[in-house]
Amino acid sequence: GLKVATIGGGSSYTPELIEGFIKRYDEFPLTELWLVDIEAGKEKLEIVGNLAKRMVEKAGLPIEVHLTLDREVALKDADFVTTQFRVGLLEARAKDERIPLKYDVLGQETNGPGGLFKGLRTIPVIIDICNDMERLCPDAWLINFTNPAGMVTEAVLRYTNIEKVIGLCNVPIGIEMGIAKLLEVEHERVHIDFAGLNHMVYGLDVYLDGVSVKEKVIDMLTNPENTSFVKNVKGLGWEPEFIRGLNALTCPYHNYYYKSREMLEKTKKEAEEKGTRAEVVLQLEKELFELYKDPNLNIKPPQLEERGGAYYSDAAVRLITSIYNDKRDIQPVNTRNNGAIASLPDDSAVEVSCIITKEGPKPISIGDLPVAVRGLVQQIKSFERISAEAAVTGDYDKAVLALSINPLTPSDTIAKQIVDEMMEAHKEHLPQF
Ligand code: NAD
Ligand code: G6P
Ligand code: MN
Repeated sequence: GLKVATIGGGSSYTPELIEGFIKRYDEFPLTELWLVDIEAGKEKLEIVGNLAKRMVEKAGLPIEVHLTLDREVALKDADFVTTQFRVGLLEARAKDERIPLKYDVLGQETNGPGGLFKGLRTIPVIIDICNDMERLCPDAWLINFTNPAGMVTEAVLRYTNIEKVIGLCNVPIGIEMGIAKLLEVEHERVHIDFAGLNHMVYGLDVYLDGVSVKEKVIDMLTNPENTSFVKNVKGLGWEPEFIRGLNALTCPYHNYYYKSREMLEKTKKEAEEKGTRAEVVLQLEKELFELYKDPNLNIKPPQLEERGGAYYSDAAVRLITSIYNDKRDIQPVNTRNNGAIASLPDDSAVEVSCIITKEGPKPISIGDLPVAVRGLVQQIKSFERISAEAAVTGDYDKAVLALSINPLTPSDTIAKQIVDEMMEAHKEHLPQF
């Protein structure tokens, strides 16, 4: 049989994943799905787990859904392990987003100080999971969705013995679907060559039925309406000169780097008026779990698409199916560079279009990144590496260093002040410091 273990099973995204497994059951005949959570997430796990059971039953498929707080039982002999956990829950994310704003620095889930601290909380846990996997399911693939996905994948590659790891994000698929919509064509006809890092990925070319339509798409991106591809980051629109000069497709998170001041002001204003994104999402999550409790609900409710991770199931299950069937189709994932992007270390995690085989993703070589984007990408990779090192060693200097070199931080002094305040705020989840 085929066994999948999902760590952080109490996530409101679980119905997304179940929908994906149901849709692709013909190609991936899953027999056992183990949803794992911790004591703090027990209630969520029960509610969403029971919805998962009803969804499978409605689909009439022989998939056993197990709910457990025992990670070892779940991991034992698993074929695939997916992770979607959040250490400290959304309350911790709200602190990541609020504290930096006091210092006039962006507060965001995966970028700047928020990204650093989410990494510091998450990396020790993923390393524990990897150590368990080595004992309990050494042949399994680890599909990591847990943010900051790029930094987490980097940490797994550098600090564990797990080599079969893939980091996954819904941003590339979201961009491809968004561009298809702008072009008014089916998603299947559009292909983008992706390269860069997680949440720092560029589309180097874009094709419709195999013919480049990059010029047309770049032109479309000069319209502010056309630059929002995920629900959680609304683009402000590019100066036409800038985007034409860049001559590459941007991802929504680039707004924080190329429109830093405007995005900081916008984030501060929103935090004041309606709360930070985590605070908004907390409310959305409450509403979702109220819906999930309804014993008559047996499908994924459309309200889930208001979350930034929409289409995650498509990305995750499509990836698992392609590995399982050795499909050799092309998908953008986070994997070991292996020389595909000349400007980045061979042994670092990169987000790049890959051929997906039963031996895993084979990154498609792109040579050097364009000179205009190379420096920023390298800077973010350095930030990720030093952050991961701080997370593993508990070295306080490294944490201050990581934030000081991040382009969203104005100085080493501000970096240190933010690190100090955030270390204190998160101390129960930072045992390594
Ligand atoms: P959430 O707050 O609902 O947390 C999910 C579950 O993780 C909770 O039920 C919680 O109890 C559990 N958890 C916490 N610590 C755990 C541990 N040590 N072991 C097992 N379970 C644990 O989070 P969410 O909003 O559903 O997001 C889940 C994760 O997915 C986050 O890390 C988020 O950043 C990530 N995410 C990634 C992408 C992407 O593109 N890669 C998109 C959306 C969300
Ligand atoms: C995006 C990103 C994720 C991020 C999420 C936030 O699409 O790819 O990495 O975690 O959305 O969504 P949320 O609804 O939690 O703000
Ligand atoms: Mn993402």
